[in-house]
Amino acid sequence: MPCLSGNIFWVNLFISLHMARSVLISILVMFIIDPQKISGQYEFFKLVAFWGPSFCRVYDCWREPPVPKFTLHGLWPDNYTRRLYNCGGSRYIPLSDQRSINARDDYWYDYFLLNPPSARRNWRTQQKFWAKEWSNHGTCSENVFNQPNYFNLAETLMFRYDLRSILFNSKNPIPLPWPRVSDVMSAISKVTQARPELRCNYYINGNILVEVALCYDVQGSRVINCTRPGTVFCGRRSSRIYVPNNF
Ligand SMILES: *[C@@H]1O[C@H](CO)[C@@H](O)[C@H](O)[C@H]1NC(C)=O
Ligand SMILES: *[C@@H]1O[C@H](CO)[C@@H](O)[C@H](O)[C@H]1NC(C)=O
Repeated sequence: MPCLSGNIFWVNLFISLHMARSVLISILVMFIIDPQKISGQYEFFKLVAFWGPSFCRVYDCWREPPVPKFTLHGLWPDNYTRRLYNCGGSRYIPLSDQRSINARDDYWYDYFLLNPPSARRNWRTQQKFWAKEWSNHGTCSENVFNQPNYFNLAETLMFRYDLRSILFNSKNPIPLPWPRVSDVMSAISKVTQARPELRCNYYINGNILVEVALCYDVQGSRVINCTRPGTVFCGRRSSRIYVPNNF
């Protein structure tokens, strides 16, 4: 029945061409739309924490926590060669109950709020800092860590090392309030077994240590050396930096 097999041939050819076209269109779409959105890939995490007393010397803080402490600036998925930022994933899901807001506020503190964040007021102001960190950074690892998992990871990593007791440790004191960059680096790496990144600002007559970053592997499980060649925040290893112990 040549006629029938001929029909099947044409039907098959039609289907193949149609499929090829869809595949071609999908490939084109992948390249035209933000490629970051499709891959969502990153090479490491950076956990960046503010030292409150320094932060409030450099910026005008509206409120201070009851004790001087390190609080989270953000958990940043990043690449070695190109900075990842604003990868365009899901929208921020605000916390709705006061208990979880208080819990997050304890370690992820917004110094620019006038009052502690409230569940009864507009989340767009109350949770602005967390929402911004999610859309600027959290979206870049969304393929691996969805939003609830990303926020859980940020909390877990924030509590993994107690940076305050590492730096203000009477058993292994560093020469405060003007230690060398190397004193601070080695106090931290002695505990974490990896190189941290120190981030300073200029303040009155020298550099002040404002943030400490610890780097983690893609799974967020193992501390790794922070390396960002060409970015110097605090000066040479022998430079002195100011580390105030109180507000
Ligand atoms: C980031 O690195 C990952 C893994 O190496 C890669 O797949 C991705 O394309 C990179 N993203 C950018 C924006 O360079
Ligand atoms: C970090 O780098 C140092 C050398 O600067 C190396 O000895 C150490 O093994 C590295 N640590 C990790 C966790 O990769």
